[in-house]
Amino acid sequence: MTEQPTSSPVQATQADPDWELGSGQMFDSIAQRYDLLNRVLSMGLDRGWRKKAVRALQVPSAGRVLDLASGTADIAIAVARHYSDCEVLGVDPSAGMLAVGMEKLQRAKLQDRVELTVGDAQALKLEDNSFDACSMAFGIRNVPDRGAALAEIARVVRGGGQIAILELSTPRSGLQAWASRIHVEHIVPMVGGLLSGPEAYQHLRDSMNAFPSDEDFLAMMAAAGLKQPQVQRLGLGVCGLFTASAPESL
Ligand SMILES: C[S@@+](CC[C@H](N)C(=O)[O-])C[C@H]1O[C@@H](n2cnc3c(N)ncnc32)[C@H](O)[C@@H]1O
Repeated sequence: MTEQPTSSPVQATQADPDWELGSGQMFDSIAQRYDLLNRVLSMGLDRGWRKKAVRALQVPSAGRVLDLASGTADIAIAVARHYSDCEVLGVDPSAGMLAVGMEKLQRAKLQDRVELTVGDAQALKLEDNSFDACSMAFGIRNVPDRGAALAEIARVVRGGGQIAILELSTPRSGLQAWASRIHVEHIVPMVGGLLSGPEAYQHLRDSMNAFPSDEDFLAMMAAAGLKQPQVQRLGLGVCGLFTASAPESL
């Protein structure tokens, strides 16, 4: 199932010529503080969002789950705990994030059922129809070619397998939009900047603002071949849980 081993974390910094906002290298630079930042910035709500995504996967007995943009493995661990006989493969381009995830897996004694590997959601070195379900939490926003990543999901998940994608975006109207805009425009860059340097969390704000509308993202999922795409808004509308099933054949 492995593409490349995750042995040595990459120590990329903003000085690296290849450092790009939203890339694996950017996440390498914040990996050690990522979990703390996540809890603080989402005010702890992210745990509940992840639980909903995990339940939506409906993994069959002894199923295989792909967790894209796996990062520090929170979803991979939650999936392995919820479906106690499944196997999980977590894929992410940031070796630094995966190294933190690997430590968590070892503490949770889940390293026999969860594997983490470096890879890019846009071009998976994985066989067609080789997974029963796929999760991707707060990762699709960072992928330059989202259509390619969605098409890869449709390819590697067997027909009827469930897909759950969590993503943050800024609500576009109403009181929720006003409240979340204050959080995203001011609190996120300030707290995130204090804890980890400004660029990464300006990226969070900018990429949330730039994420497509629900209608456009659902259309993108359908264009990639995913069936019955739906969205549920969570956390004052700031988090979308997008679900779909994989097509029977492409
Ligand atoms: C905000 S973190 C989310 C991590 C984890 N899923 C979670 O729920 O905490 C975003 C992750 O997307 C990853 N990422 C960036 N570009 C990617 C790509 N092309 N393919 C897959 N993952 C990518 C980053 O390395 C980072 O670990």
